[in-house]
Amino acid sequence: MDVTGVRAEFPILQRKIYLNSCSLGALSLRAMAYLEDFQELWHEMGASAWYGPWWERLADLRSRVAAFLGTAPGQLALLPSTSAALSVIAESVQYGKRNRVVCTELDFPTLAYQWAVKPEVELVVLPSHDGVRVDPQQFADAVDNRCAFLATSHVLYTTGYIQDLGALAEIAHSAGAYFLVDGYQAPGQIPVDVGASGADFYTAGPLKWLCGGPGLSYLYVRDDLVRKLRPRITSWFAARDQFNFDLEHFEPHEDARRFELGTPALPTVHTALGGQEIIDEVGIEAIRDRNRALTDHLVEQAQASGFALTMAPDPSDRSAIIMVRHDDPPGAVAHLAERGIIVDQRPGHVRVSPHFYNTLDEIDQCVEALTASTR
Ligand SMILES: Cc1ncc(COP(=O)(O)O)c(C=O)c1O
Repeated sequence: MDVTGVRAEFPILQRKIYLNSCSLGALSLRAMAYLEDFQELWHEMGASAWYGPWWERLADLRSRVAAFLGTAPGQLALLPSTSAALSVIAESVQYGKRNRVVCTELDFPTLAYQWAVKPEVELVVLPSHDGVRVDPQQFADAVDNRCAFLATSHVLYTTGYIQDLGALAEIAHSAGAYFLVDGYQAPGQIPVDVGASGADFYTAGPLKWLCGGPGLSYLYVRDDLVRKLRPRITSWFAARDQFNFDLEHFEPHEDARRFELGTPALPTVHTALGGQEIIDEVGIEAIRDRNRALTDHLVEQAQASGFALTMAPDPSDRSAIIMVRHDDPPGAVAHLAERGIIVDQRPGHVRVSPHFYNTLDEIDQCVEALTASTR
């Protein structure tokens, strides 16, 4: 699929300059077609649609996403949100003497919150000394035999920095701790192979770079842990004999479905399939290359216009989340919105996140409008 073909798939691109994919990926015609199909079946079959087409759609999504992430369908659970996925894992281990959890101040807050609410857990939040990343040595110093989880992000939502999962897995495992990765900001913009990553748990979801909308999360669990762990929050979707309706005996699924928490959001199952198909067809390597070209251009143009950027010095550590320092981020976002350009803001920064469907010309228009917003 070439760039022109891809752009035609996303109606928002005909209306706006859309540069906020790290918040919400664009909705495609393919996803809309899946959604229409879902609604039509709802009209036509009502609940009977569950016993055939909708169940099949769930299986389709699970297999397609598992293949995309480099794992097997049996190692992937579908949950309502990243927060829900993290909370199931946090409730799957006994803390005892191993009661420390290490994360960083650059991680998304919902990660730390899972343990901040547990009085029996000692939560260690590592500071960032440069505002961009946390040095692996800081993890190594904090993770020891008191540690239950090293829990952090693959791509930091705050700065776009891509963390070295191999190095962090080594640190966690040599101390006997689990390595849990919040991967919401990675799959769809950079290649991810969860099986090879060293992660014991990896969460992702269709909302952002996978262009699949809100309401679902994907949880990968390492093979041997799937059978070993028994979550203390659960649902009938986690039960091996889900349709036996036996209240007195609960046996979890043998595969990762044992981590699931009830009926999945079917509209999102459909939109996620549409988004995922397009990502698969374009190909993650091609997407990464294109996003590199777009972000290199953005960095170059923004710096040439006098902006300072909060980002990794080495371009290979950067992703397509670019933080442009600005004295008045809300004012700048409003200024750009008036000109049909959608970006976002975080403290002290305008956040620009292009995706494969954007063009160099759109980046130029964005930088031009940003420059005007400082006058
Ligand atoms: C890295 C990261 N983790 C977690 C979340 C929150 O996920 P959820 O609302 O699905 O719990 C976000 C949301 O933007 C995020 O960027």
